[in-house]
Amino acid sequence: MVKLKWLGHAAWLIEFKNVKVVIDPFLNGNPTASMKPEDLTNIDYVMVTHNHQDHVGDSFNIAKQNGSKFVAMYDTAAIAQQSGVQNIIGMNKGSMRNLGNIEVALTNAIHSGNESGIVLRADNVTIYHAGDTALFKDMELVNKLYKPDIALLPIGGFFTMGPNEAVEAVKMIAPKVTIPMHYNTFEQIKQDPSKFLEMCKGITNVVILSPGEEYTHE
Ligand code: NI
Ligand code: MN
Repeated sequence: MVKLKWLGHAAWLIEFKNVKVVIDPFLNGNPTASMKPEDLTNIDYVMVTHNHQDHVGDSFNIAKQNGSKFVAMYDTAAIAQQSGVQNIIGMNKGSMRNLGNIEVALTNAIHSGNESGIVLRADNVTIYHAGDTALFKDMELVNKLYKPDIALLPIGGFFTMGPNEAVEAVKMIAPKVTIPMHYNTFEQIKQDPSKFLEMCKGITNVVILSPGEEYTHE
């Protein structure tokens, strides 16, 4: 059983049986944030997809408060290190790495800011957080290599894929469950997620969350 709590925007609290992970915790300054950074406790890993403020957010402070391991692309990890974060795991795109209690791969993404997606696996559940990205054909490789059970995909448009592109992404990634993110935080990325759900009928099970809600994957 894995619990995925949407904290708003691209921020997630993911609780495996023995491992707690926070991804892209942009909370302070996020109008839709459902938690305060100081309320995130016992976090084993803080992971960041890329070096944009709406993703790095409060990650350094959360990692420092919890003594978490900090996982990101090498250059983003170097900035964390300069900011006093300990336990840095600066990775790069390439392969799945076993960190002991969790496996992690950074994947390609098409965006800016030393961008990546993140695949994580524990308790036999594989989750793909696509980060900020445009649609790209190599998403097929995420499916081929990692077979994600759950995909967390941006649908807001403007900075990333919109719903039309995200549907094509879903066809390539073929996850059992897809949860849209990175929409309705700001005016530019306003979307109706129920339309995305309609478009995905018969392709994947779309779960629509509100910030603060969680999805439990059995
Ligand atoms: Ni970005
Ligand atoms: Mn973003």
